[in-house]
Amino acid sequence: MATSQLFDVAGKRAIVTGGAQGLSRGMAEALLENGCKVVLMDVQREKLESVCREYREMGYEAHAVSGNLADRQDLNRMFDEALEILGGRLDVLIPAAGVQRRHLPEEFPADEWDFVLNVNLNHVFFIIQRALKVMLQQPTGGKIINIGSMVTWFGGTTVPAYTATKGAVSQLTRSLAVDCAGRNININAICPGYMDTEMCANMSQARKDETTPRIPAGRWGTPADLKGPVLFLASSASDYLNGALIPVDGGYLCK
Ligand SMILES: NC(=O)c1ccc[n+]([C@@H]2O[C@H](COP(=O)([O-])OP(=O)(O)OC[C@H]3O[C@@H](n4cnc5c(N)ncnc54)[C@H](O)[C@@H]3O)[C@@H](O)[C@H]2O)c1
Repeated sequence: MATSQLFDVAGKRAIVTGGAQGLSRGMAEALLENGCKVVLMDVQREKLESVCREYREMGYEAHAVSGNLADRQDLNRMFDEALEILGGRLDVLIPAAGVQRRHLPEEFPADEWDFVLNVNLNHVFFIIQRALKVMLQQPTGGKIINIGSMVTWFGGTTVPAYTATKGAVSQLTRSLAVDCAGRNININAICPGYMDTEMCANMSQARKDETTPRIPAGRWGTPADLKGPVLFLASSASDYLNGALIPVDGGYLCK
């Protein structure tokens, strides 16, 4: 393959979860702008539909499937709907929907613990399981891009459930990569640093002010900062990359 075509994703079919806003939306947009047909999934029905309508008006092939990915039955229904829209083919899966809940560990409510695990970890594994059954039947295989975090490597403050799930997703990425590398499926993870999205809106201003000077790039990341890494991981450019955890963090992890 010519080097100029290594990053070509035109014509690929993809599912991105959590696509109504934030980083998932940015990642879906990278695929749409480069000619992919993308199903965006989210629990925020109206917002998701309006985002997809906006993309279709721009000439992109964006489709909305809404529902609650924390619910196994709903997840299966959503996957079936998406696969029908994509004509039975799936080349790229980005299970990026996530939630964060902040409490001191001794006060962390059990129902919120279960909720965070259901969204951030269980949805990731069970949608990958559905995707693998499709991708393994395709001669072209597939690409799966998980989303870790800086808390893949170190502890967060008042986010024990979130930290546990992001550590688990990173190890899941490695484990699944071992099982799938020889079967034409690449599974890797992007680990974003501090990104300016609604997820971080609940951080105190004092904590935000303390964080910014610790980012060597001198600024927080944005959804657009994930576009390049997504194209790399969704295309042939990453065909020999398996189980990698790629920090996209403005150098935060190095300091
Ligand atoms: N923002 C950051 O600093 C940061 C850093 C590292 C990793 N991440 C990860 O990136 C991913 C996206 O985060 P974000 O910052 O864009 O957050 P966000 O809160 O802006 O977006 C998350 C999206 O997921 C959707 N979602 C949540 N629960 C769902 C469910 N049960 N079913 C369907 N959809 C659901 C939400 O509706 C929302 O649209 C998450 O996995 C997050 O953990 C974010």
